[in-house]
Amino acid sequence: MITRDLAALPKRDVYRILSSLVIPRPIAWVTTVDGSGVVNLAPFSSFMGIFGPPMLALTLGRRKDGSLKDTHRNLKERGEAVVHLADLPLLEALHASAAEVGPDISEVEQLGLATGASLRITPPRLLDAPVALECRLNRELDLGPASTLVLLDVLVAHAADRIWSADEDSADASLWTPLARLASVVGPNYGALGQTFRLGTPELP
Ligand SMILES: Cc1cc2nc3c(=O)[nH]c(=O)nc-3n(C[C@H](O)[C@H](O)[C@H](O)COP(=O)(O)O)c2cc1C
Repeated sequence: MITRDLAALPKRDVYRILSSLVIPRPIAWVTTVDGSGVVNLAPFSSFMGIFGPPMLALTLGRRKDGSLKDTHRNLKERGEAVVHLADLPLLEALHASAAEVGPDISEVEQLGLATGASLRITPPRLLDAPVALECRLNRELDLGPASTLVLLDVLVAHAADRIWSADEDSADASLWTPLARLASVVGPNYGALGQTFRLGTPELP
């Protein structure tokens, strides 16, 4: 058994170790819009759903020079974002969208991704992503100089017909391959949902 006292380690080591252990992480693929209408796109895997109330939580770090990431700046300015979940065919585009580029460059345009209007908010949604959640900023929680926890209210949910079970009026995980983030340094750094199971009511033997 390997044991590490995280409190005694430099931040870089803590990140490397913890992000290799807390897997698989769903990836929020987020569109936001800046003041001049440029559509920004970036992935974030420090991400979870909160299901009552319908909210999402993201942790946004700072850039190396200490400035806010475009997603964070746009969220502060406009308070709106579309959080997508991507599947295997979108892996390369999702990864490329993490490139650090200036705020005037739209990752959506650079990658040639098709967009459509959202129902309730200004940022557009990616038409090829199987899931798109229209969100409004609820609050930010400062986690120190290097990161901020952002809570978003989910206003509208869109899902592709191909992942939907009309009988149950919800998405069926066996119909798509949601992407997950794995460790960042060693071994595979992405996965896609493979084996799935359906168990009944939990009971102890
Ligand atoms: C799969 C993946 C997951 C990521 N998760 C996070 C994250 O949770 N928080 C974060 O601050 N950056 C994360 N990043 C890095 C951002 O995507 C990257 O800094 C990006 O350039 C931010 O773009 P923006 O400035 O357009 O918002 C992740 C990158 C990848 C490839």
